[in-house]
Amino acid sequence: MSTTFQLDTSTSRANPTPKPRKRLTVPRIRDHKKDGQTKEPLVMLTAYTARQAQLLDTHCDILLVGDSLGQVIYGLDSTLPVTADMMIAHGAAVVRGSYHSLVVVDMPFGTYEGSKEQAFETASKIMADTGCAAVKLEGGEAMAETIAFLTNRGIPVMGHVGLTPQAVNVLGGYAARGRSQQEHDKILRDGKAVQDAGAFSLVAEGVIEPIAIALTQSLEIPVIGIGASAQCDGQVLVTEDMLGMFERVPRFVKRYEDIASVIDKTVAKYAEEVRDRSFPTAEQTYQPKS
Ligand code: KIV
Repeated sequence: MSTTFQLDTSTSRANPTPKPRKRLTVPRIRDHKKDGQTKEPLVMLTAYTARQAQLLDTHCDILLVGDSLGQVIYGLDSTLPVTADMMIAHGAAVVRGSYHSLVVVDMPFGTYEGSKEQAFETASKIMADTGCAAVKLEGGEAMAETIAFLTNRGIPVMGHVGLTPQAVNVLGGYAARGRSQQEHDKILRDGKAVQDAGAFSLVAEGVIEPIAIALTQSLEIPVIGIGASAQCDGQVLVTEDMLGMFERVPRFVKRYEDIASVIDKTVAKYAEEVRDRSFPTAEQTYQPKS
């Protein structure tokens, strides 16, 4: 059943019908995987705006305010120029627009790698200013100390290993990872280090399938795949990618819609009606009261 929203003008909060289920918590997501097994995979999508969050919320377990908003919303070349302020503005909007899903906000490049104290300062500000329940950061063994520092101080962390887009300049591109034995072993060590440091879940991005399966089978925390394997404990995609907003479709994306064509046709119709003065009609105009 689709959800409808009534705006409460005194609070600016949109009240959904039917009433949403209670918001999922970090322990519930963590405990979704029991004794190394996940019955039903976790559903995660990116969200950047309140309205998008409203539409996705009822279908998802986790909404990720990904730093992919740099490319998707701001037209940047990579995630590197994304700032904490950008993440906070979009994170707060997604928290306002959602009721059920756990909201996780990405820590942007340059705001956490310097030291664990820097990471705490950024993560605590993101959490306080957005109301999100957790942050995500990229990196494995190198970030383990930081992840432990954050989780011990009340900040739940989702890890991210494999293809880590913030490291594009070190990796030399966005190709799938783990084809050499050395890389394969490193990714498995990264996943284990992130788990042992206290992360409640892990994104495995752009890794060859045997690595995704090995991570999923060897870790106790849910492993959420993107360009990974259907055997992961959950899946995540960039929403605009799966809706068909862009012409370029990465290999790991399934396009469930061609929303770009829908927009193109709809806007062409509007432009035509404006130009031939068939819009607005009497239905959309105000007349003096008689
Ligand atoms: O930024 C993002 O959207 C992400 C997902 C692709 C996992 O990190």
